[in-house]
Amino acid sequence: MITAVETNTVLDIAAIRNDFPILNRKVKGHPLVYLDNAATSQKPQVVIDALVGYYTELNANVHRGIHTLAEEATAAFEATRDALQQFINARHREEIIYTKGTTEGINLVAYTWGRSNLNEGDEVIISGMEHHSNIVPWQIVCEERKAVLKVIPVTEAGELDMEAFYQLLSEKTKIVSIVHVSNALGTINPVKEIIDAAHQKGAVVLVDGAQSSLHLDIDVQELDCDFFALSAHKMLGPTGAGALYGKKQLLEAMPVFNGGGEMIKEVRFEKTTYNELPYKFEAGTPNIADFVAFKPAIEYINTLGKKNMRVHEDALLRYATGKIKEIDGIRIIGEAKQKASVLSFVIDGVHPQDVGILLDNKGIAVRTGHHCAEPLMNRFCIPGTIRASFAVYNTMEEIDQLAAGLKKAISLLK
Ligand code: ALA
Repeated sequence: MITAVETNTVLDIAAIRNDFPILNRKVKGHPLVYLDNAATSQKPQVVIDALVGYYTELNANVHRGIHTLAEEATAAFEATRDALQQFINARHREEIIYTKGTTEGINLVAYTWGRSNLNEGDEVIISGMEHHSNIVPWQIVCEERKAVLKVIPVTEAGELDMEAFYQLLSEKTKIVSIVHVSNALGTINPVKEIIDAAHQKGAVVLVDGAQSSLHLDIDVQELDCDFFALSAHKMLGPTGAGALYGKKQLLEAMPVFNGGGEMIKEVRFEKTTYNELPYKFEAGTPNIADFVAFKPAIEYINTLGKKNMRVHEDALLRYATGKIKEIDGIRIIGEAKQKASVLSFVIDGVHPQDVGILLDNKGIAVRTGHHCAEPLMNRFCIPGTIRASFAVYNTMEEIDQLAAGLKKAISLLK
């Protein structure tokens, strides 16, 4: 029998929970147990206040006006770029390109870098545990450029088959686009090793940091990755905002992405010239309020400290893994040695969606299905999993409720 373990965290989890108003709500008459953090994290009051504050006090378009509101809105909007630069330790602030999120960041690289660097017979390496957003853009560009998409297989434990990676890697490889932490399994991939090996062959590397940015320390200079994509909404921030980091020289050499206002220097019918970094990739009015409110999310994470958060999240994962393994008929999918706070599992003879519905009736939110990683589900010959994903505000008691809810669901469905 697994009993609740001390998390040994210096953080006051009860106080942290008070910062997230949504955690006080009830769902179907039960206190919300929110275990769908890999889909999107909840937002602390400081982020909600920043959103309201922006529309109450600042609302104006950015980079376009000389009036006071426009200047203040621009300063608040640009301050997030500085916070992000520090957060991932980018060398230059103009290496931070604002995007709608990780998906747009990967698409940007595929359609600009990919279209101008991939030629017939070149190879792109991704892995078998990618989210669809790190598969489909590469399929589109490879088809267009007659390049070849290669896939690193995934082992039974849910790890990358690194021997196979080294066999796939060659002088033909032009880019390796790899997920840092799998959204469906929680596996933490050895991205530093992949980056170093790819560089030796002259290839560049994009890291999909959607799931890692909240849980792992990110230092793009130490990783030496060429591109790194992240989303605010997975990092306690608002939806619709994200960032693409790219090495300055690469970004400067890349063609533009969307055309429109802001990304231009001069527009003539004969020829248009483009703005400097980062604005060359930022056409149109952005999600100003969401970028303004992204900064307090980053500051909130910095105040808690990712290492402190990780101690608690790892304890939650260990405890949940033990509790789930005690339940007859449950099989965990993805037991990598290095994992972040995601627990995916299947129950013999029971459809994941039915379990999700019964858990929801108890106020417990998990995600069920293929998690936008259909090829990975096919690899394990399953239609999908039940996925519980944890964040710093989750508790051991919530995991007890999940385990009790699962036992009940199994007794009803089997
Ligand atoms: N990519 C998000 C997830 O894993 C939506 O749930």
